[in-house]
Amino acid sequence: MPDQNDAQTRTWATGDYRSIGARFLLAAELLCETAQLRAGEAHLDVATGTGNVALAGARRSARVTAIDLEPELLAHAARRAEAEGLKVDFRQGDAQALPVPDHSYDLVTSTFGVMFARDQERAAAELVRVTRPGGRIALACWTPSGYMGRMLALNTAHVPPASRAKPESRWGTMRGLRELFGAGAAIEAATRDLWWRFPSPDEHVRAWCATYGPTMVALGSLDEAGRRALVADLTALVHELNADGDTLLMPLEYLEIVIRP
Ligand SMILES: C[S@@+](CC[C@H](N)C(=O)[O-])C[C@H]1O[C@@H](n2cnc3c(N)ncnc32)[C@H](O)[C@@H]1O
Repeated sequence: MPDQNDAQTRTWATGDYRSIGARFLLAAELLCETAQLRAGEAHLDVATGTGNVALAGARRSARVTAIDLEPELLAHAARRAEAEGLKVDFRQGDAQALPVPDHSYDLVTSTFGVMFARDQERAAAELVRVTRPGGRIALACWTPSGYMGRMLALNTAHVPPASRAKPESRWGTMRGLRELFGAGAAIEAATRDLWWRFPSPDEHVRAWCATYGPTMVALGSLDEAGRRALVADLTALVHELNADGDTLLMPLEYLEIVIRP
């Protein structure tokens, strides 16, 4: 899948994911608590980005390996680990062909990461392959009904993908998880909100269009009228979901999942 991986790598290298990932940190910390990570456990974080869950695992004395396609994000994650005096083995690699042996991790995690792998079935099978018998897979995935799921669907509506890919937010539904992990897997899932705060809705939209790779790539492929239409739809969505008057206070709904394959 080299071409699709190149496209993913370019997408996440576009903009400034660091400033966005910093706002997702709470989901990573909560996921390690929900998964009851223990000191000394072998922990693999897939599509780690700037390392949020990898660092959360290392803060809990796990033995952490973390994998992502995008080298600049991995370099930033390594700098964060260094700054905190934490040990993590960061490696470049593909969630659809994880460069680690079978059944080698007690806990395999991904926050808002593996859901972006193009071949969803293959990525799910890889998570299962590397999990030890009795181990668990813990995920945080955007739901279709929350801001991120709807925002990603807007991108697809304005810029239809070349081939018919399943929506990323399929990972944020019980039905999708059953399809991906099989009827026999024990799946526990709970809906949670991350609260997104910005000085104003419009300021958030401006920042989003200048930092979030998938939106920037979509905007870059449109003409002026198309760009205006996508920004207008995004702005309307943000205003619809805003729970505050002047500032932006918006829930980012996600599914927090623990799977015992
Ligand atoms: C929204 S970011 C999430 C990063 C991080 N887990 C977090 O919570 O902030 C998505 C990440 O998935 C990575 N990614 C996408 N497809 C991938 C694949 N096939 N293999 C490995 N990483 C992938 C991207 O490079 C990016 O770092």
